[in-house]
Amino acid sequence: MALEGPVPGRHKIVLENRRILLIVSGGIAAVKVPDLIRRLRERGAAVRCVLTESGAQFVTPMSLAALSGDKVFQDLFSLTDESEMGHINLSREADIVLVAPATANIMAKMAYGMADDLATTALLATDKPVMIAPSMNVMMWEHAATQANLATLLDRGIHIVGPGAGDMACGEVGNGRMAEVADIVAALDGFFKSRREHGPLSGQSALVTSGPTHEPIDPVRYIANRSSGKQGHAIAAALADLGAKVTLVSGPTQEPDPAGVTVTAVETAEQMLTACTAAKPFDIAVCAAAVADWRVADSTTSKIKKTGDTPPALSLTENPDILATLAKAGKDRPHLVIGFAAETENVIDNGSAKRNAKNCDWIVANDVSAGFGGDSNTVHLITEDGADSWPTLSKQAVAERLATHIADHINKS
Ligand code: CTP
Repeated sequence: MALEGPVPGRHKIVLENRRILLIVSGGIAAVKVPDLIRRLRERGAAVRCVLTESGAQFVTPMSLAALSGDKVFQDLFSLTDESEMGHINLSREADIVLVAPATANIMAKMAYGMADDLATTALLATDKPVMIAPSMNVMMWEHAATQANLATLLDRGIHIVGPGAGDMACGEVGNGRMAEVADIVAALDGFFKSRREHGPLSGQSALVTSGPTHEPIDPVRYIANRSSGKQGHAIAAALADLGAKVTLVSGPTQEPDPAGVTVTAVETAEQMLTACTAAKPFDIAVCAAAVADWRVADSTTSKIKKTGDTPPALSLTENPDILATLAKAGKDRPHLVIGFAAETENVIDNGSAKRNAKNCDWIVANDVSAGFGGDSNTVHLITEDGADSWPTLSKQAVAERLATHIADHINKS
């Protein structure tokens, strides 16, 4: 079945903002890959390609780069690629690794854990789910070696789409044709949907705050901070991926809305508190927003003009503390309240003091002396059991690790 134009919206919602690492190995079905990339991108997914040497016999890196809108990675020993994006990161900064087409050769290498090029190295180094779309001659598909490799891969939890039956490029007829593009899209959609429905946080609701707040001085000026919202948004996405029903209340950011999350956009701390209160009740609260501690007491509705020699004095008043408000004891207190502590010195001590002062269960303390806005984070998770110092991780990895800790805690208690 050929895919003409966009298919119904459910694919769009589930695949939007998903990062797919697409490994293209060398089979004739690689000619379908440009269409696959187009369809995935139409649904809002980000596609990054790894092209094997034999894959490049069927499809050019240039066409994959043009369609994916990203660099195509080919060489395990490329010094530029390794300094910009190591093969480990390449395989981890994705939500799923899709091998399409997956030849008998790459399936065999995967089964045996071989890593002799960038594609197989990324497959061995990944901690993400992997899906294969096999494509090969019917005899190769039915060969005991391929079937044994397939059994090994399925046993390890690898997902599969296809292959289908039909005429083959080699002239034979039978099983081994790569699944149609529409079926691969549907399989990815089904994967993300089922993970949400059966995840360890299904049935739980969560509120996440993210981003900075903007506190107006007058209609054109405001006080803000350098928070990017990357960490908060990644946490919302990670909780949703484990099945939680997530509301994200965010100050102004450039971050895209995470897929399947209800987003409420706010500007000020007061609006953020109102939105959080309106989202009650929820089981889990994660306050990752860099809420401005103060707002301008007498912000004006008309622009302050530059009159006279004396600059205007701003008088500040304290903003409500959203974390402390949510963590206050009471019947609608969430089961687990987690705050962040952005510190420039004595990170663990200050984080522990904040945990007590704000009555929250956990604090994620991080050193912000190098500034906000980067892609990685070095954090300490402070709980009643003490501080657990994590290695420097991407913000996405911090989010996934935190979401897993939350799921373990919720399912234990
Ligand atoms: N927070 C909040 N509302 C505020 C201020 C902070 O919800 N008005 C939350 C943040 O989202 C974060 C935690 O409180 O989870 C700690 O924020 P941080 O800025 O590190 O601490 P402050 O309380 O502002 O203390 P200080 O700036 O003095 O370190």
